[in-house]
Amino acid sequence: MLRYEGPVTFSGRILPDDRVVAGCPMHKGDSITVALGGANYDPRLHKDPHKFDVTREDIDHVAFGGGRRYCLGAPLARLEAQIGVRVLLNRFPTMRLAPQELKWKRVPGFRGLEELWVEV
Ligand code: HEM
Repeated sequence: MLRYEGPVTFSGRILPDDRVVAGCPMHKGDSITVALGGANYDPRLHKDPHKFDVTREDIDHVAFGGGRRYCLGAPLARLEAQIGVRVLLNRFPTMRLAPQELKWKRVPGFRGLEELWVEV
């Protein structure tokens, strides 16, 4: 789910020294913005990337970033989602999306719904 629709849309880095990044010569202090959502739809990394499939096993997404600054809260976020979704589905097994027009928050760098109505 995080690969398909992650809440953090980009991350960034400031170069500590001159170096070539992905074939592009860059200088100390330059900034790089990484589109995490874009990387998560890279067809070289994810087969059939536009397909939402929670049974995928070969997932190596970057919704939590990567490298040294990888999200510190990732294990907690995973645990919260596993527990929360399981409890919700057990408690409301007939839960369905209610008909609605989805409204997305307008916050740069983040992606999420204002609200999501369901029928139980
Ligand atoms: C689904 C939930 C979450 C997502 C998708 C997420 C995503 C991210 C991303 C993309 C970064 C930047 C990583 C990078 O630049 O490589 C980050 C950093 C961070 N996240 Fe999360 N995060 C989530 C939940 C949390 C939670 C629950 C906490 C704390 C309780 C947390 C704490 C942090 C911290 C402290 C950093 C900065 C790490 C550093 O700079 O070394 N995150 N997160």
